Amino acid sequence: MVTTYTPQTAKAYQQTAEISIPEMDAALTIARGMFGNLEGKLILDFGCGTGRSSRLLHQWGAYRVLGIERNRQMLAIAESLPSPGIEYYHAGDARLWEYSEHCAAAFTSFVLMEVPTREELAEIHNTIARILLPGSVYVAITNNADALPYESEHISIRPVTGFTGKSGDQFLDRIKGEHQFEFIDHYWTRQDYNDILRNSGFSIEEMVAPKNAKGEEFPYLAIKAVKL
Ligand SMILES: C[S@@+](CC[C@H](N)C(=O)[O-])C[C@H]1O[C@@H](n2cnc3c(N)ncnc32)[C@H](O)[C@@H]1O
Repeated sequence: MVTTYTPQTAKAYQQTAEISIPEMDAALTIARGMFGNLEGKLILDFGCGTGRSSRLLHQWGAYRVLGIERNRQMLAIAESLPSPGIEYYHAGDARLWEYSEHCAAAFTSFVLMEVPTREELAEIHNTIARILLPGSVYVAITNNADALPYESEHISIRPVTGFTGKSGDQFLDRIKGEHQFEFIDHYWTRQDYNDILRNSGFSIEEMVAPKNAKGEEFPYLAIKAVKL
C-alpha cells in the first residue's frame, strides 16, 4: 500500500496510468468536454505525476502545458518520457512565481483525493487561482464520495478501518490487474469541494459523475469551475 511515491511505486503508477480503465476514461471524456477549445492556450496541470494528464492536455490541443508536481520520483519519470509542448516544474520551484495570471485553463487529474487536509486543498487551489487568468476554466477529476465504496473488475475503493464518513477519512484505492497498485485516498464530498473552491475565488459551474449502463454513478467526479 502506498501513501507517498518511491522510485518503485512511481514506476508502478506509470504502468497503471498507461492502462485503459473504463471508469477513469469516462471521467476524462467528461473533463475533455468541460475544457472546450484548448487550441493555442497555455494550460496548468497541477499534480501532473508521471505526466499522463499533461500529455493528454497536449493531445487535446493545448499549445503549451505547465506540469507541476511535488514528488521528485514522479517528476523524473514524467521528464524521461517524450513531452512535446510540456514543461515540468517541481512544486517548490521559485520560477513558478513568474507564471502568475499566465495560464488560460487548469487541470487537477486524480489529485485532490490524495490530499489529506482541508488546509492543503485550500493551499493548492490558492496556487491554481494565482496562476490562472481571470475568467479561465479549471477542471478537476476526483473521487465521487456518493459512489463509495465501489467495486468493479478494474478498481476497488473501500474504507479503511476507523472510517466514520467524516471529511478527510481514509479510503484504500486499488487498481486491479497485472500491475496491481494500491493507494490511500481521502474522503471529500461535493460540499467540501464546493466550499474550498469558492473560498479560493472560483465559481462552480458543474459537478458531473459519469454513469454505467444501468445509470449507477462511477466513483469519479468531474468538476468545472471558473476563476473569478
Ligand atoms: C494520482 S497522481 C495523478 C497524476 C496525473 N495527474 C494523472 O492523471 O495521472 C496524483 C499526483 O498529485 C501529486 N500531488 C498531490 N498533492 C500535491 C501538491 N500539493 N503539490 C503538487 N503535487 C501534488 C502527487 O505527488 C501525485 O503525483
